[in-house]
Amino acid sequence: MAKDTAEWWMLAIPTFLGSKTLAEEPRLAILSLVFAFISLAFASWALSPGGFAWKNLRDRRGPTSIPGTRGLPVLGSLFSLSRGLPHRALADIARRRPETRDLMAFSLGSTPVVVSSDPQVAREILTFPHFADRPIKASARSLMFGRAMGFAPNGTYWRLLRRIASSHLFSPRRICAHQPSRAVNCGNMIRGIAAEQLRTGSVRLRDHLQLASLNNIMGSVFGKTYDPVNDAVVLSELNEMVREGFEILGAFNWSDHLPWLDYFYDPFRIKQRCDRLVPRVRRFVLAVIDEHRKKAERNLREGVDEDGDFVDVLLSLEGDEKLQEDDMVAVLWEMIFRGTDTTALLTEWAMAELILHPQVQRKLRAELDGAGPLSDSDLARLPYLQAVVKEALRIHPPGPLLSWARLSTSDVTLSNGMAVPAGTTAMINMWAITHDPAVWENPDMFDPERFLGEGKEVDVRGSDLRLAPFGAGRRVCPGKNLGMVTVARWVAELVRSFEWAEDSACKINLREVLKLSCEMKHPLHALVAKRDVIGG
Ligand code: HEM
Repeated sequence: MAKDTAEWWMLAIPTFLGSKTLAEEPRLAILSLVFAFISLAFASWALSPGGFAWKNLRDRRGPTSIPGTRGLPVLGSLFSLSRGLPHRALADIARRRPETRDLMAFSLGSTPVVVSSDPQVAREILTFPHFADRPIKASARSLMFGRAMGFAPNGTYWRLLRRIASSHLFSPRRICAHQPSRAVNCGNMIRGIAAEQLRTGSVRLRDHLQLASLNNIMGSVFGKTYDPVNDAVVLSELNEMVREGFEILGAFNWSDHLPWLDYFYDPFRIKQRCDRLVPRVRRFVLAVIDEHRKKAERNLREGVDEDGDFVDVLLSLEGDEKLQEDDMVAVLWEMIFRGTDTTALLTEWAMAELILHPQVQRKLRAELDGAGPLSDSDLARLPYLQAVVKEALRIHPPGPLLSWARLSTSDVTLSNGMAVPAGTTAMINMWAITHDPAVWENPDMFDPERFLGEGKEVDVRGSDLRLAPFGAGRRVCPGKNLGMVTVARWVAELVRSFEWAEDSACKINLREVLKLSCEMKHPLHALVAKRDVIGG
């Protein structure tokens, strides 16, 4: 049909303009070629339910074709999904057109994308080995993340990084070993909050959480902690680099999907900003690596046998496993990135909900007050605290589209008969699943009780796809236990140390903004009243 349209134009143009053949008029030949090209492109867009990137019947490779949303010619859904809250826009389509709930095809420029809002299909996408790669954005590549664990293709290098990280950073023993330093950071945070309340009459929680999470992750990964007063200069440099990196990575860059745009449109100045940031990051991380090298040499000379941190482990790798300097920078930098914002912003959401639901706050406090001093494993056994954290994860998943998508490496047919072709970006709309009334009763209500009682337990670590905020399968978040322990500790200590109330001068607003993760658009301000902590 597309070919017919093209031929129609070739015949029509000369007739229309009064010349005999195209050979007599070269300009007409060019014009008709352009028309032919445009009509061909238009026809392939019009014939593909998923839009331009799904041309050549890519959506019809299995017994059941993939329904889709076409968007605009060439751009696809770039306009509608690059702004605002794409998880909500996609959830809305899945609700209005139930046939797209399982899987929906759409185009982001020339990128073919599928998204699932169904737990069963989500499980297949996250756990099938055909989806074990990730698409990588230009900004992530420029920021050296191409060699970090999150973006490394499924293969020997990625497996090596996962293995080292799971035994030396995320193992229960390691997480437990850092419990004292997490407690110190948390204590500093509590003191900082009390001081701010005294000084200004209210508290902006986000700053305190960000400092504590940066310190936590620097402690676990680099074996370093920073004092807000004595290390103010280093801390502000580090904070600035992390924030700039978040902004660059979180920005929706149109040229990732329309590569030709790169030559003349770069509204976020991604390239210049990456060029400025990367040398600063390298200098910072390499200085830390150098300190570790010197310490290891000193320890060797003096016969000191110290339990090393993650940097020491990376430095000790030999032979095939030895990492290049830039690989180490990428791996370490990524940990700081992934570890800082998620835990801080989830805690901010949880505290906002606890202030809006004073009865939940009171019930949680009663559980904590009755429990005495709490180790990490005690926290994991407090049912109401765990239910509050799970409910915060359900109602505000930090990665509503699971942040970093997957990429299909070969054609794969799902159990519903739909076949996803190789080279397709696959996303899970976790937000749509956790707000689906067919999956959760009263999904928009903050109600921790839904996880309490016989048969109501839900595992959030990837085995139950009704609530899998850490993803699932071989690329599941390796920091999930650390994340859960940290957030549970913070929520527990914040509720145990203070009574939290809304600041009437700055009301709580639950509007979201999706950057690298989904945060509160308006940072939480609250009034806190110090309590005499029992058993803390
Ligand atoms: C509340 C806290 C957190 C949430 C909600 C979260 C969420 C996620 C999600 C959804 C993924 C993608 C999983 C998938 O594709 O199936 C992921 C991957 C990842 N996360 Fe987390 N995360 C959290 C904390 C952390 C922490 C504390 C660290 C490290 C210090 C971390 C490091 C990573 C890394 C390295 C990956 C990439 C893994 C890979 O591709 O092999 N995360 N995270």
